[in-house]
Amino acid sequence: MRKHPFTYLFIFLSLVTSSFSFADEIASKHHICIACHTHNAKSVFPGPQLGGLPADYIYQQLDNFKHGLRGDDAETEMMKNIVLGLTDKQARGLSEWASDHEVKQVFDVNKASDTVGFKVYEEKCLDCHNSVIGRFMTDSPRLEGLNSGYILKQLALFKSGSRTVAEPSKHQTKMISVIKSLTDEEFLSLTTFIQQAGQ
Ligand code: HEC
Ligand code: HEC
Repeated sequence: MRKHPFTYLFIFLSLVTSSFSFADEIASKHHICIACHTHNAKSVFPGPQLGGLPADYIYQQLDNFKHGLRGDDAETEMMKNIVLGLTDKQARGLSEWASDHEVKQVFDVNKASDTVGFKVYEEKCLDCHNSVIGRFMTDSPRLEGLNSGYILKQLALFKSGSRTVAEPSKHQTKMISVIKSLTDEEFLSLTTFIQQAGQ
């Protein structure tokens, strides 16, 4: 039986309006994230820049916050509550949007390439984090948009086992074991290097 032309019109219109309303729904959440996730955010809890991070990484981190895998202080609890207020579809849409955002470089290894800690970074971290190919091969996030306070906090969380991944990949497992294997001396010089490179 042939469908009446109005049936097609109806299907078309409902597809168009439903995609508009989803886009509007995501857009209505942008301002919440933007308030904290730009490089010069004035919020009480400024967060790291999200631009340039793969959408899948951002989505995975939202899921990690939701499941308490990113620590349990006031900042991570707040992110957890924000994620609990999102549907899965919104979290995916916001991850795509945030990934496309502009990022201003903050962490720059050249600012501290004459420190002892640079050698530790060069030997233990650089291959995965500092080139497009390295990041692509290992699914590692770019560190350029991060400041030293955030980076050092994350290293401390990885080291103490408070930041984990539900089903870690080979590279995620390696990342965590590398941090845990650093001697106190190496960790200290890495800290000084990061403080200088990420300010
Ligand atoms: C009030 C401030 C605030 C708001 C609003 C906020 N965030 Fe955050 N966000 C933070 C802070 C602070 C952290 C770092 C938490 C930590 O210390 O681990 C963070 C971390 C993140 C991370 C982890 C980034 C990484 O490099 O691993 C993602 C992803 C994220 N937020 C996404 C979002 C999205 C999407 C929204 C909007 C729905 C949002 N945030 C709203 C403050 C905020
Ligand atoms: C085998 C590759 C690999 C090595 C080596 C490695 N990392 Fe990572 N790193 C990763 C991956 C993959 C993640 C994402 C972990 C996750 O999904 O939570 C990550 C996450 C991070 C984060 C969190 C970024 C964010 O946006 O929250 C920081 C900071 C970091 N690494 C710093 C370092 C430092 C410093 C070293 C050297 C001591 C290092 N990494 C060594 C692969 C690596």
